[in-house]
Amino acid sequence: MKLDRLISRHASLGRTAAHRLIGARRIKVDGATVTDGHHQVDRFSCIELDGVPLQHAGRPLHIMVNKPPGYVSATVDEALPTVLDLIDDPDKGQLHLAGRLDRNSSGLVLLTNDGRWSKSITESTPKVPKAYLVETVDPIQPGDVEAFASGFYFHTEDITTLPVKLEILAERCARLTLEEGRYHQIKRMFHRVNNRVTRLHRESIGRLALPPDLAPGQWRFLTIEEVGLATSP
Ligand code: URA
Repeated sequence: MKLDRLISRHASLGRTAAHRLIGARRIKVDGATVTDGHHQVDRFSCIELDGVPLQHAGRPLHIMVNKPPGYVSATVDEALPTVLDLIDDPDKGQLHLAGRLDRNSSGLVLLTNDGRWSKSITESTPKVPKAYLVETVDPIQPGDVEAFASGFYFHTEDITTLPVKLEILAERCARLTLEEGRYHQIKRMFHRVNNRVTRLHRESIGRLALPPDLAPGQWRFLTIEEVGLATSP
């Protein structure tokens, strides 16, 4: 959001009056005087007028969860447990998900109150890759590698999937790396090659891998470095 808009909102002023305050050097953002009304601020910026806080800097939350199967990737659900139920933090009501997993899938899920960060994971260009471990009913065929790399046309959405890297690890087990997240995408792709997914586990988002010591159902805050890794292609 632009600084002039935030000031007019917090101080109940019109935009012109907000600009006057900014022009008169009466506004500080994170301790520094700002004279440009278009300066970008958000809920994590500390904004002061004549040294008096108009907005306290919010607490940024960047959380990873090892989602067990059975939990819904949502913040509320009337009947089923959600990934938010796994988190114990007084500010958890502010959280939203940076990407979902199906109910019976497991692995890395990210939650945050930072809309810019989640957008840079879900909507950025170049796209952020996500890696999954997959187990299937039938043997995975060598020809599937080429089929996944070429893409599949989904007529319900009228799209062709972006190239997917498929590494066969065992007869019925593979690692998939993809850069988009269409509805049930992995299950639908295996269906196209006459196979069926029995287990799906997300190992990483960008360059952020699910740590081996984070057991299913556990969560923790990301480090500053990990916040950057999640958005790195
Ligand atoms: N593709 C699927 O089919 N399910 C998931 O949970 C994630 C990707």
